[in-house]
Amino acid sequence: PELLALVAVLAYLLGSVPFGLVIARLLGLGDLRAIGSGNIGATNVLRTGSKGGALATLVLDAGKGGIAVLVARALVGEDAAQLAGFAAFFGHVFPVWLKFQGGKGVATYLGTLLALAFPVGLAACLTWLAFALLFRISSLAALAAAALVPMWLQVLGLPEFTLLALALGALIWVRHAGNIRRILKGTEKKIALKKE
Ligand code: G3P
Repeated sequence: PELLALVAVLAYLLGSVPFGLVIARLLGLGDLRAIGSGNIGATNVLRTGSKGGALATLVLDAGKGGIAVLVARALVGEDAAQLAGFAAFFGHVFPVWLKFQGGKGVATYLGTLLALAFPVGLAACLTWLAFALLFRISSLAALAAAALVPMWLQVLGLPEFTLLALALGALIWVRHAGNIRRILKGTEKKIALKKE
């Protein structure tokens, strides 16, 4: 149990590194929380016009979830891997460094899933992409992808991750409350690959 607690703390600390915020600052774009939606994720970095910065944020925020899972699995085992994925996600959403005001968890969830249950992670990424191409709204794509993970887990024969997926999916929906309101009002911003 001490070992699992250590895994949880280390994964939380890794997850709580706000790469979007750091990258935006390094690129001289200022405080990401004062831009666009105010979120610290890749979608909001893209709103600054920096595609490279957005891609780096996506990869690093996903990577921290994935690395936490892979290291915990290699050193401790499968239960620790799930715990590490949860803790890294939790760190991203509620980071101690930002007074627990973190991100929405989408990239970190995708990275965690890719490492935990690769076929399901891939299905979730493709779901995100399909909805993003159809509707051009990042938050809508994330909400759809998160909602469909439990289904993919059943279809692809990996039901042991259902509880984790329900918990993280629910948190993602809660974190998108503002986005959901904007989607319903028709005012949610579309993904713009060119600066508006
Ligand atoms: O990954 C977060 C995304 O789903 C929404 O981001 O900045 O549009 O609130 P944002």
